[in-house]
This record gives sequence, structure tokens and C-alpha cells, in this order.
Amino acid sequence: MTEYTVVHGAAQLVRNRDGGLDAVSDAAVAVENGRVAAAGPTDDVVRAYPTENAAAAVDAGGKTVLPGFVDPHTHAVFAGDRADEFTAKLRGKTYQEIAAEGGGILRTVRAVREASRETLVRNLLSHLDEMLAHGTTTAEVKSGYGLSIDAETKLLEAIREADQRHSIDLVPTFMGAHAVPEGWETDDYVDHVIEAQLPAVADRGLAEFCDVFCEAGIFSVDQSRRVLAAGRDHGLTPKIHAEEFERIGGAELAAELGAASADHLLQATPADAQALAGADVVPVLLPGTAFALDADYADPEQFAGAGAEVAIATDFNPNCFSQSMEFAVDLACHGMRMAPESAVRAATVGAAAAIDRPDGPGRLREGAPGDLVIADVPDYEHVPYNFGVSTVETVLKAGEVVYDAR
Ligand code: NIG
Ligand code: FE
Repeated sequence: MTEYTVVHGAAQLVRNRDGGLDAVSDAAVAVENGRVAAAGPTDDVVRAYPTENAAAAVDAGGKTVLPGFVDPHTHAVFAGDRADEFTAKLRGKTYQEIAAEGGGILRTVRAVREASRETLVRNLLSHLDEMLAHGTTTAEVKSGYGLSIDAETKLLEAIREADQRHSIDLVPTFMGAHAVPEGWETDDYVDHVIEAQLPAVADRGLAEFCDVFCEAGIFSVDQSRRVLAAGRDHGLTPKIHAEEFERIGGAELAAELGAASADHLLQATPADAQALAGADVVPVLLPGTAFALDADYADPEQFAGAGAEVAIATDFNPNCFSQSMEFAVDLACHGMRMAPESAVRAATVGAAAAIDRPDGPGRLREGAPGDLVIADVPDYEHVPYNFGVSTVETVLKAGEVVYDAR
């Protein structure tokens, strides 16, 4: 038998099964060769994987073991921050007013263009440390603060390097169509994204997904369709920022294209929810963004009721400065009124579906990655119940302890 790790005696283990959370009490998980070898009642698991022969045995007595969180929507690679815009928003300025004055995304673009790749890697690594401490073991990261061939590839290279250096698995998304850079007409810039940026990114295999900010005054549905269809021609799976400030048809476009996910959806209608569910597009809800914008939350029931597997994410970016999936789970419950069971599922199984990993991370069953969180609470309900603090005590990636606050 090869070396294995066993986490045993957990008060509760959340495994996730098709259609439900499947919580087991007095439970254990054994991880061998980076993958879950057994997950279930402690007696059964330690009979096959005795603690005394384990390379590492972790006593999870009184605690809850969950699959590592998957964060399926972040803009985590950038330079600088926009704390002063946060204060301006508190004084009544809107996100759009700040952007119209040259702040917002374009301000971060200026900072990124001036930053070296090394600086971007260093910044990203430190954000990943924070994510890990809050239980994230897989994260999607978008480019989109470069808006030129050089700066977009610099961001995606930084993501690739950080992925190699950090224990969190990163999933790279190209988002050259995040904003229209200064000095460009929108249609010309869309042509540039399609004809110059996309081939440069795709030829070097720097991204798996292609995303676009489909929004009134940014990229129209037609422009978004052009970008995402071209991305698909280059082998990149579509994702879309849809119906955030205004409903303009981004959700319908996601359904039409068979996108992996449609994200934000604050203004989506019940018909949009039906269209997404019917096309197997995962609605990714971002409660932190609504919180940071002081906007109304999306309605998870609208999507779940239509039959969709709902996901939640942090949307970590300079406008929504939280790296924590724990906080996203807290807000999903306290703000969006999701049941803890649904929020935990959305942060694991739902989130994995949003990045096209329906059978890998987000579940603790034989063959799944050995990515797990040990939370210092008696059951998963206590994770969002105890908001504003971290309940995450230990994180294992592929069976190795990579974060330990004990
Ligand atoms: O998902 N909505 C567009 N993009 C980001 C915000 C990026 C920024 O403000 O820097 C989002 O919220
Ligand atoms: Fe976003």
C-alpha cells in the first residue's frame, strides 16, 4: 500500500452526492496519491486505512470536514487597489460615475500596464494565501485589466506562474473584453480582441475560458456574441458577465451559446432563469458584489426553482475586495437567504460545475481530488451561522496539509 493521509473522527463530513449534501457523522476521509480513497463512517475508513500506518493522521474530533471550496469567479490578478473609491461610494457616488471619471476598471488597467509580471505574481500569490486560509482549494482567475496583447498575456502568464507556485489550483480565463480601453471605439476594440488578443492567448494555451462584460454601455449582446463565438473557435469555453446593472439579454446569449456559466444576474428575469437551466448554464451568483455595490441581491430561488445547479463565488476584484469563499457563503445565507445546505453546495458542487469540473473538486467521494477543509464547528450549518470570523482551521490539498491555524 502506498502512503496515505487519513482525517478521522469528524463530527460531520459533507460528501456531496447527486442532488444533496449527504452529511455523515463520526466520519473519516482517506487520501492516497492525491485522491480520495475512502470517505464515510470512521470505523469503515480506518479499517481499510488504519491511522497507525498513515503518513499523516489528523484528528478532526468535534469538527466538520467539507470539500475544499471552489471559487469559480475572480479577478484576482491586478495591481494597486481602489480603497478611495470604496469611500467615495459610501459618500453616494455610483460605480458608473466613478468609471466615467476614469476610475474603476480603467484605473486598475493603468496600474497593471505599469506593473511587472513579477509584481503581478507576488500580488496574486498573497491573495491566494488569503483564499486558502478561507478554504478555497480551486479558483478561476480572469485576465481583463490589461486590454492589450502584451498586458493581457502578462496577466495570464502571471496566473500560470502563480498556479505552479501555489497549492490552490487555478483555472485561467481570458477577459480582454472587460472594458473598452482609453482611445478606442468599442467596435474597433472588439475587432482587436478577436483578431489580435485571442489568437495570441489561444496559441500559447494561456486560457481555458473566455469571458465578456455584456452590459449596457460596455459590450452589447451582439459584440459579446462575436467575442465568445471567436473564443469558442479558438477552443475557449464561453462565460459571461450578464444582467448585472441592466438586463440586456446576456443570459439568453449564454443559453444560446451553451456557456459554462452566466454570472452576476442581479437583473435576470424568471424567463432568463428558465433559459439558463434549460441549456445547462450554471448561474454564478456573487453576493459580495451586491454587498459592495449596495445593490439588491440576486434571487437564488429563481434559479434553483427553474432546475439550475446554482454556484456562488467571491468575484474578488478591486471593487469587491474579499478573497473569502467563507464570506461568500455567509452572505449567500444572510443576504440572499439561501439555506446553509444550498450555500455550501453552491460553493462546492455548483462552483465546480461552473468551471466545467462536474466530477472532480467539490465532492468527497472515491476518486475525487483530496482537497478538503476542516472547520472548527460541529456541523456545516455553523459555518455561515458564525459569520464574520473564520471557521476554517486546516486545509488539505491533494491529501497534504497546506494551511493549518491550529
Ligand atoms: O465582475 N462587472 C465587471 N467586472 C468586475 C468588476 C471589476 C472592477 O470593478 O474592477 C465584476 O464585478
Ligand atoms: Fe466579475
